[in-house]
Amino acid sequence: MRSTIIAAAFAIGAFAAPSILEKRDCNDTCMSYDAATKVANNFQTLIAAYTDALAVQVMTVDFTDYSDSVTSLIDSGCQGPQPLGAVTFDSRASFMAGQKAQPAIPFEILNLWYACEGPVVIRWRSAQTPEIITGNIVIEVERATDGSEPWLIKTVYSEFNSGAWLVNLGVFKPNCTADGNSAAGPVGKKAKRSLPARIM
Ligand SMILES: *[C@@H]1O[C@H](CO)[C@@H](O)[C@H](O)[C@H]1NC(C)=O
Ligand SMILES: *[C@@H]1O[C@H](CO)[C@@H](O)[C@H](O)[C@H]1NC(C)=O
Repeated sequence: MRSTIIAAAFAIGAFAAPSILEKRDCNDTCMSYDAATKVANNFQTLIAAYTDALAVQVMTVDFTDYSDSVTSLIDSGCQGPQPLGAVTFDSRASFMAGQKAQPAIPFEILNLWYACEGPVVIRWRSAQTPEIITGNIVIEVERATDGSEPWLIKTVYSEFNSGAWLVNLGVFKPNCTADGNSAAGPVGKKAKRSLPARIM
């Protein structure tokens, strides 16, 4: 019995993804590495090559998206109309309306982590110019048994470098020298240096 299982494991290992990741697959109630990758790729496609049909296929109707980074883009760095610290898209329909209005965005997955019933967590990069954007997303999922997707995207917590994105959009115009460095100096370091010594 034991040797049969080991033999099966080696047989799988010969054809499939790294066997260490396979060990986390348990049964139908638990997400496999392939299923987690599918969820991540579904989200990637929603950003990079959006269609309404895909949104309906891969997201729950009660989808919600929390992202102050997106809110800052919507508000162009102001404090409204979308309030910071609140839900950014409160339904699949509102996400679809927002995403449909966007041009396709380059979006590459750099890393992926997942747990049995989610979340799927990704680190991503968007090869924009002049500044690349990097971000992290926690994707909570819901098991579905009726459609083509075993795991639907339900809740998203997404933050990224919206400061660099606002530069790319021309909303934030940084004060740079000809070689691309900050003319104003390292503001963050200056602020830290001015703190009382015992806090540092
Ligand atoms: C798979 O999950 C079901 C439902 O939770 C459970 O009843 C069953 O015992 C599990 N099977 C294994 C092999 O863990
Ligand atoms: C850019 O920073 C330099 C150095 O602090 C300053 O002298 C200059 O006035 C700044 N330029 C603008 C447009 O803010």
